[in-house]
Amino acid sequence: MTKLLNGNQLSREIRKEISKKIDQDIRKKKKRLPHLGIILSGNNSSSLTYVNSKIQECKNIGIQYSLVHLPEYSSEQDILKEIQKMNNNSLIDGLIVQLPLQKHINEENIILSINPKKDVDGFHPENFGKMSLNMNAFFPATALGILTLLERNQIKISGKHTVVVGRSRIVGRPISILMSRRQNPGNSTVTLTHSHTTNIEHYTKQADIIITAVGVPGFLKGKMIKKGAVIVDVGITRIQNNENKSFLIKGDVDFHSVYGKASYLTPVPGGVGPMTRIMLIKNTLIAALNRLNNS
Ligand code: GUN
Repeated sequence: MTKLLNGNQLSREIRKEISKKIDQDIRKKKKRLPHLGIILSGNNSSSLTYVNSKIQECKNIGIQYSLVHLPEYSSEQDILKEIQKMNNNSLIDGLIVQLPLQKHINEENIILSINPKKDVDGFHPENFGKMSLNMNAFFPATALGILTLLERNQIKISGKHTVVVGRSRIVGRPISILMSRRQNPGNSTVTLTHSHTTNIEHYTKQADIIITAVGVPGFLKGKMIKKGAVIVDVGITRIQNNENKSFLIKGDVDFHSVYGKASYLTPVPGGVGPMTRIMLIKNTLIAALNRLNNS
């Protein structure tokens, strides 16, 4: 029997917890609500969808947001200018620049220019380095969402072998660091596999937990996993349905061959995605509370 890990339901529970904390620590004290700044450059259709869902999450929970939507082919300088404005704006607690950026923009320069205290994506080297050293910092939302999904479903990760597929800055690297840290949740033995790994199946077959984030629909097949493995699917590939122009969202997991063999599986959609969005809000709340505690 495979149990589906319902990210929609858990994110609703966490939304309630966050709302309660905002009421107690901010509204009742008549303080300013958390405020998330979002910078989107261009019209990548996936990015537009993600940004819209982040805005919807701000609205659901009742925090403030500002969106700066720059036109296609904006320069690196244009984006840096907007980041500086948000860095200097004391009314904004956290800020994100939606990735990926167009090829002519140096992502590193963009991330480095975000004030680490407002870096609620946790991508700035100051936060990433602190996370790697198990220090207090903003942690990337998808990795936090995965950890929370496992923890709240009482899935043991300590002493287990986790195989991560994909080494991106957004998912693969941070989740491999957090799973292996000397802390609960953590203490997992982690193998990080990627595009240059020969015979990925050799590793996935040994894994107690597999976290796949490669963006290849149906990549992880039932024959690549051992019976009872926990499977976390972070893949989100949009496939256009030519008949009615809508989009289907496909994960990395070949659902039909994995379902029944895995012990737990995150569905796509409705697994990791909603957890990522709510963790971004949680990070924004932390940024706002840090501001209140330091004022
Ligand atoms: N693109 C895909 N995931 C993310 C994310 O978590 N943050 C940002 N900024 N861009 C993304």
